[in-house]
Amino acid sequence: MKTFTFRDYYNNEVELSFSKEPFSDRPGHVWVICRYAKQWLLTRHPRRGLEFPGGKVEAGEAPEEAAKREVWEETGGIVNRITQLGQYKVKGRAETIVKNVYFADVQQIQIREDYLETMGPVQLEYLPREPDKNYSFIMKDDVLPRALQQIKKRKLTV
Ligand code: GTP
Repeated sequence: MKTFTFRDYYNNEVELSFSKEPFSDRPGHVWVICRYAKQWLLTRHPRRGLEFPGGKVEAGEAPEEAAKREVWEETGGIVNRITQLGQYKVKGRAETIVKNVYFADVQQIQIREDYLETMGPVQLEYLPREPDKNYSFIMKDDVLPRALQQIKKRKLTV
């Protein structure tokens, strides 16, 4: 199994792999790189800034269900096709988390009354090479560019 090891924005150690369940068969978190109408679909978190949607897997929920739910809650996006790209592990100061990373094709965006923890959908034609202060820390380590490489390699975008 090929694993990439690097530091994140907060200098926490991250391990990333594009095999299916390299670190855990019960990941606690999910992160979803979304595409809608030939654009990237992100959400605006009130403190962290722009990021792809994601969050915690709830009790009794499968990770893929959590991924679709988070996309819906944070962007109003209805997922058409979802593909797991891989998994990563972050060794934080207090705890270690394991997160599944997905690519999702969104077929439709519905307007919601509220987007729970976020401020709703943001569509971008291009992702920045070097995300600035408007972007969340989770967009600022090697997970995103490596996941984008996978998406390209696996020809998941149209
Ligand atoms: P809430 O209960 O939602 O407030 O979450 P939390 O602040 O307890 O954080 P969470 O359990 O989501 O994650 C714990 C720590 O893991 C965070 O403080 C981050 O340092 C780190 N972390 C979580 N998700 C990511 C991620 O996608 N990338 C990176 N690099 N670190 C992450």
